[in-house]
Amino acid sequence: MQHLIDTPDLTDAQLAAILEDARRFKRQKPITLLRDKLIITLFFENSTRTRSSFEIAAKRLGAAVVHLDPSTSSTNKGESLEDTFANLCAMDPDAVIIRHWENDAPLKLAAKEMTPVINAGAGSFAHPTQALLDLFTLQEHFGDVKGKTIAIVGDIVSSRVASSGIKLLQRAGMNLLLVAPPAFMPKSDLPQYERLEDVLDQVDAVMSLRAQLERHKAPIFEDYNAYAEHYCLTHERLGDRPLLILHPGPVMRNIDISDAMLEDPRCKVLDQVKNGVYVRMAILKFLLLDR
Ligand code: CP
Repeated sequence: MQHLIDTPDLTDAQLAAILEDARRFKRQKPITLLRDKLIITLFFENSTRTRSSFEIAAKRLGAAVVHLDPSTSSTNKGESLEDTFANLCAMDPDAVIIRHWENDAPLKLAAKEMTPVINAGAGSFAHPTQALLDLFTLQEHFGDVKGKTIAIVGDIVSSRVASSGIKLLQRAGMNLLLVAPPAFMPKSDLPQYERLEDVLDQVDAVMSLRAQLERHKAPIFEDYNAYAEHYCLTHERLGDRPLLILHPGPVMRNIDISDAMLEDPRCKVLDQVKNGVYVRMAILKFLLLDR
């Protein structure tokens, strides 16, 4: 049974096929390939983009979607995650899409081999579909991304987007630079910088990341305006450099990216969201049909 827990689960051929399907779905509305399928979404953490984009992707392909809201489920009566999952699987879904604060939650459920499990974000461990849509967006702009350089900026140590993105973008042949204050910098062999100004003339793209306040055990910065003075992507800082700007969302306006820069054509935040639907359609097709 094939799951998607992180991008190394995919072979190079599978990865290429998913990205090609996503490009095809973006060019041309697909037929309802999954019309007899039923997918359950199970989000234990908040989501705007990932949950709605998976639901739209499934419905565009003709699948039915059932959402179980953990806040009104029997989780609140003490039912374990494993039991909740087993009971949902007893109703024969074709896949379960899960977001959870525990790093190993999707892997634990996948190991039961009851239905394909898709990781929609697990703790600080992995967010594979975000990494795939980020790569798709970079390829859409640059064509081949091999040899291009991207700076990942912000709370890298707590970010599942960075964790999955670093693996996938390196695999695609990109050069990666990490830019963060010491408290946000992970242990890594990648080049590390504290000052954004030191990398801006070396990069083709910048991926800004939100401070993952919900994962900090204690406040790291008292005042994020002080952080923004050094790391916010502004016109003053970026000038007219031809950089692509990415952010997985939600954006902390004027902390991660300025209001004005969010309106700049170099900023692809909403393109990433749009592309997320096509990439997730391709992932659902791959897991529910091709496999
Ligand atoms: N990028 C992302 O995971 O956004 P959501 O938390 O809104 O799903």
